[in-house]
Amino acid sequence: MFWIIKNGVKMTGMPAFQPTHQDEQIWDIVGFVRRLPQTSAEDFKAMEKQFGESSEREQRLHHE
Ligand code: HEM
Repeated sequence: MFWIIKNGVKMTGMPAFQPTHQDEQIWDIVGFVRRLPQTSAEDFKAMEKQFGESSEREQRLHHE
């Protein structure tokens, strides 16, 4: 999963995260995805509340 997220999948819409993310951040994404099956809707809403602001900041950084 780390490799796919880092490099993307050729000829599909799956983008490589390498240009915009450090390896450490990609490992965090792997951890996040692996935890999703045990994540409830309530957990997810709580995360949005806690991290929403920082992820908006990250999105702005990526589009600069
Ligand atoms: C946190 C964001 C993302 C993660 C963790 C992620 C992860 C993955 C993984 C692990 C696969 C491979 C699935 C498999 O073959 O077993 C995949 C495939 C794919 N992803 Fe993403 N992805 C993300 C974002 C995106 C985005 C933003 C797009 C497009 C806008 C996208 C489009 C695709 C497509 C089209 C495939 C299928 C490739 C194929 O046909 O084999 N992904 N993604």
